[in-house]
Amino acid sequence: MVHPLLSFLLLFQTIATATPLRPGFYSETCPQAESIVRDVMYKAMIREPRSVASVMRFQFHDCFVNGCDASLLLDDTPTMLGEKLSLSNIDSLRSYQVVDEVKEALEKACPGTVSCADIIIMASRDAVALSGGPNWEVKLGRKDSLTASQADSDNIMPSPRANASYLIELFDKFNLSVKDLVALSGSHSIGQGRCFSIMFRLYNQSGTGRPDPTLEPKFREKLDKLCPLGGDENVTGDLDATPHLFDNQYFKDLVAGRGFLNSDQTLFTFQQTREYVRLFSRDQSEFFKAFVEGMIKMGDLQSGRPGEVRNNCRVVNHRPIDILLESIA
Ligand code: HEM
Repeated sequence: MVHPLLSFLLLFQTIATATPLRPGFYSETCPQAESIVRDVMYKAMIREPRSVASVMRFQFHDCFVNGCDASLLLDDTPTMLGEKLSLSNIDSLRSYQVVDEVKEALEKACPGTVSCADIIIMASRDAVALSGGPNWEVKLGRKDSLTASQADSDNIMPSPRANASYLIELFDKFNLSVKDLVALSGSHSIGQGRCFSIMFRLYNQSGTGRPDPTLEPKFREKLDKLCPLGGDENVTGDLDATPHLFDNQYFKDLVAGRGFLNSDQTLFTFQQTREYVRLFSRDQSEFFKAFVEGMIKMGDLQSGRPGEVRNNCRVVNHRPIDILLESIA
């Protein structure tokens, strides 16, 4: 069952009015925007290959929590607990500094023009394209949120323990289909996860005191070595066998019982999602097509709340009302 508060938040999300997004939004105001983002992402990938996967994950964690509005980049303030320390993000989301670098380069070229929310969308697309995956045209014109909510992130973002039926229900709340769910999970074709996220699978699946029976035995041995009981749970393992290449290896691994996360392997265990896993494991171009569709749909999620273009992705700009209130205080 999806949390009732989540249903309320999502209802709010669908009824709220949203700004129309379109390709080429910055073609007049900042024509270099997309090439600047691609360039910084390329340099980040050369410096640290995993960083582009880490940045790509931001799109999911941003868009599912009150729309794609860069709320997850906001630092905590004395009056606001942001999303950086939420259950799914703490000690897990990383490479925030790559977004800072993109923002800095864009502020130099076109001050106050390109939103942090659009940066996340462009950078995620670039992460995929630079890793050998598809390239596509993104819709732009998002505003940055004025607030963030740790509680909303906690309520919405799924745990690595989630099973396919929970994930189907969750994605459906965002108008994302079963096919979208399976294709978007294919983002785990790049990047890594921590032992912390799989300890239960290795040693106590569903409270049985036993490992997940769907784990292929050789792969389980490998994971047991990587993540021994009592060991450092911040050690990381690859999410598929080719973690720097965006390809359909992830789906081949699921068919072979070699998925890293429970939420990955469950897509092959459950009958409703299994056929898509099979299809994508056999046909990479079907995967790429469905993935692009899913990313565009996810990128369309908007809260309809008021927004701005921040000049630093970590903090809300000072608004006239804040300055007025400060001068009275
Ligand atoms: C379907 C539900 C999903 C669940 C339950 C899930 C969960 C996770 C978890 C637990 C990790 C590893 C985190 C850690 O151990 O610190 C991870 C990594 C990752 N996720 Fe997901 N995820 C899901 C969907 C998505 C989607 C839709 C995207 C993007 C479109 C995405 C992109 C990524 C990427 C790229 C990484 C690797 C990041 C890195 O190397 O730093 N995930 N995910």
